[in-house]
Amino acid sequence: SLPENAKPGTLVTTLMATDADLEPAFRLMDFSIEAGDPEGIFDLAWEPDSDRVQLRLHKNLSYEAAPHHEVVVVVQNVEELLGPGPGPGSTATVTVLVERVVPPLKLDQESYEASVPVSTPAGSFLLTIQPSNPMRSLSSIQ
Ligand SMILES: *[C@@H]1O[C@H](CO)[C@@H](O)[C@H](O)[C@H]1NC(C)=O
Repeated sequence: SLPENAKPGTLVTTLMATDADLEPAFRLMDFSIEAGDPEGIFDLAWEPDSDRVQLRLHKNLSYEAAPHHEVVVVVQNVEELLGPGPGPGSTATVTVLVERVVPPLKLDQESYEASVPVSTPAGSFLLTIQPSNPMRSLSSIQ
């Protein structure tokens, strides 16, 4: 789960792959996002000789645009190998849940002023103070 205001660069999760090859050159891995991220909201980062890859946030999340993502990561050998290609074990799905961030309520003005004549009876109406609607101001920004 990530709050929708998580910054680009935020680590989502780390995935690890194993390779039974003994030859180091045949163990070099290439990771990629195969599906579930058409807008490039996520990216992958790993050291060339590492068996771990970090899935990171690349762009801002938006709960309204997508409350969750199913990112499919695939690992392949860098070397062209003989034999069967990558099997089901070469892919993993990362489900990312986006948490709504509701802005705090705010009053519509920082200060209010009302003029009241001296003779005003108790219980008279002076002025209305109300919070501005955060949802309304959000949608007017967009
Ligand atoms: C991403 O969000 C930050 C604040 O949360 C904002 O300042 C920035 O403009 C946003 N970037 C894009 C590309 O929308």
